[in-house]
Amino acid sequence: MAANFSREQMLKMDPVFLRMHLRERVHHTVEHQLYSAIYGDRKVGPQFGSIAREILDVWEERDLPRDLPDIKWVYTLMELAERARQGETVQPPGAYLPETLSREEMEAWEKLLFGRRSYRQWEDRPVPSELVEKVLEAGMWAASGCNLEIWRFLVIEDPELLVRWENMEFEIEAVKIVCCIDVRGYDDVDIPPPEKNKLLDVGACMQNMALTAHALGLGGCWSTFSPAQIEDIHNYFELPEYIEVVTYLSLGWAREKVMPPARMSYKDAILAWPGRKDEQ
Ligand SMILES: Cc1cc2nc3c(=O)[nH]c(=O)nc-3n(C[C@H](O)[C@H](O)[C@H](O)COP(=O)(O)O)c2cc1C
Repeated sequence: MAANFSREQMLKMDPVFLRMHLRERVHHTVEHQLYSAIYGDRKVGPQFGSIAREILDVWEERDLPRDLPDIKWVYTLMELAERARQGETVQPPGAYLPETLSREEMEAWEKLLFGRRSYRQWEDRPVPSELVEKVLEAGMWAASGCNLEIWRFLVIEDPELLVRWENMEFEIEAVKIVCCIDVRGYDDVDIPPPEKNKLLDVGACMQNMALTAHALGLGGCWSTFSPAQIEDIHNYFELPEYIEVVTYLSLGWAREKVMPPARMSYKDAILAWPGRKDEQ
């Protein structure tokens, strides 16, 4: 996404969209450059951080909250950017390299990764909200194109609504997490990010949620609504046109034991691997 909104436009913009715009501009015009300056040979110029600063000025002028996690991250980066602009060598606080897991940690990770299944028959038992919140939090930590975080959720526990939007292949689940997208970061900007990212973001978010549900002992199944259900949900919740309903995760306490559907070997999925180092 690249958008060049005027100050006047930003002063009137819906705060959710402004927040998205701010995150994206900080990501592309500050974060990337800062790391390239620290670890690469890029130099930061006298205007470094000014694009993001202009948006942050509007954020402050509108007295929008500064203690939100992503906005605090923005402030941290803006402070580092300012110090780097003045020639200081900066170190981002709490930054880290990937770390190989210990054997026990790796076993736990593989248990989760290979053990996650789709479950479709559930006990008649509620899922505590605390567990649903853990699943949602995991979804938020998925990678997201341009750092836009376009996913939005409808969490449905009302039995009547669960029946209304049921999947005929399943029993009625205890909770349905519907994943929607806020498409303004794509549709209302001058240079939109790749269109496919909209759905890729949802996929990443859904996989995080499905894995976390499994880690919490819940049985989940990822599924997709019919076009008629999507329209009905959109109308029922009176969603604005910039919110699109995409897919959902059904959750409950599984009462069926399922066998893993064996996967084909990754070798059968590789189309090409030019330059492979240890070719046999
Ligand atoms: C995008 C997507 C849509 C799916 N839709 C359905 C569905 O409509 N009904 C269903 O029973 N399962 C659905 N599933 C679950 C798949 O059938 C399941 O993931 C696959 O058979 C592999 O089984 P596993 O999840 O246990 O590894 C869907 C999964 C994905 C990722």
